[in-house]
Amino acid sequence: MAAANAILIASGPWPPEPWAAPIRTAEPERPLFIWPDLPDPAAIRYALVWKPPEGLLAKLPNLSAIFSLGAGVDHFIFQPGLPDVPIVRAVSPDLTRRMTEWVVLQVLLHHRRQRLYDRFQAERRWQELRQPSADQVRVGIMGMGVLGRDCAAVLARLGFRVAGWSRRPATMADVESFAGEDGLTPFLQRTDILVSLLPLTPATRGILALPLLRTLAHDGGLAQGPVLINGGRGGLQVEADVFTALTTGVLGAASLDVFEHEPLDPASPLWVLPNLVITPHVAASSIPAVIAPEIHRQILAYEAGAPLTGIVDRATFY
Ligand code: NDP
Ligand code: OXD
Repeated sequence: MAAANAILIASGPWPPEPWAAPIRTAEPERPLFIWPDLPDPAAIRYALVWKPPEGLLAKLPNLSAIFSLGAGVDHFIFQPGLPDVPIVRAVSPDLTRRMTEWVVLQVLLHHRRQRLYDRFQAERRWQELRQPSADQVRVGIMGMGVLGRDCAAVLARLGFRVAGWSRRPATMADVESFAGEDGLTPFLQRTDILVSLLPLTPATRGILALPLLRTLAHDGGLAQGPVLINGGRGGLQVEADVFTALTTGVLGAASLDVFEHEPLDPASPLWVLPNLVITPHVAASSIPAVIAPEIHRQILAYEAGAPLTGIVDRATFY
């Protein structure tokens, strides 16, 4: 029997062809299947997935690795019967730059009161607001991984007072580090703008709830009060609590790219809150023309003997 070397693409709601095309072009001789076209499960060595159907990966006996088409792996890592092979997530300069763009945009939009100025413009009103300097504003980033660290570096360069919170202490120039459960309260108490870039795991689900939001600083430079920016996962936030926080002054404003249920229900009361910015999970979209060739290059390097990079720790789920 020939060694299994086929690729399977199961891209869930994302059109599969843009993921397949760059790989086919680079290596036309390698068999590539797009789920649900799966004539021989034993031929599949690599599965490239986004929200794969439950049970699919368990059916592939000769799998060597599972590649997530995005940075997160919560869309399948909790499936029962997942084969015991390396899970590799997307770590790409393109994804990182996109997330940093989105986070910096949201931080500046709240810091510079852009939504209020938009309203003034609609009213033809010429009114200046007091503008704190960046170094009067403390940004706190939950999740100092690949994405959080890049955001931290750019925000620090803009002059914000930046701190990060992670499971283990992170060392970074110009960024204060807080870690673990003991570090969470002091981190929140010194934070005016909270940026969430955590993965969704059993330890982080629902972490953005009222008690945490109430702990944020109220004595900082921002006139509107503390701000929440979540670009991580919707499951990190308790949406009813975010609504309450935004309507009672616990939070002055928020930006959410991710939601407990996506797409966000048109009936959700969140849509109409004037102090909430909503984007439809686009902070750092995976671009097939960029990410597929990066995954394919990893496969070729792996087959040439190089170790896989971006492997997820199955004990911590990220
Ligand atoms: P990484 O795995 O590189 O970083 C995760 C960070 O979270 C690490 O600093 C880690 O701590 C920290 N962390 C994990 N669990 C805990 C915990 N229990 N307590 C404290 N800190 C914790 O991930 P990335 O930076 O690449 O991506 C982060 C997330 O962003 C993804 O998982 C995904 O959900 C989301 N994302 C969203 C996108 C969008 O478009 N909205 C696009 C891409 C990603 P430590 O450093 O100690 O390990
Ligand atoms: C990701 C995402 O995890 O797009 O990459 O959300």
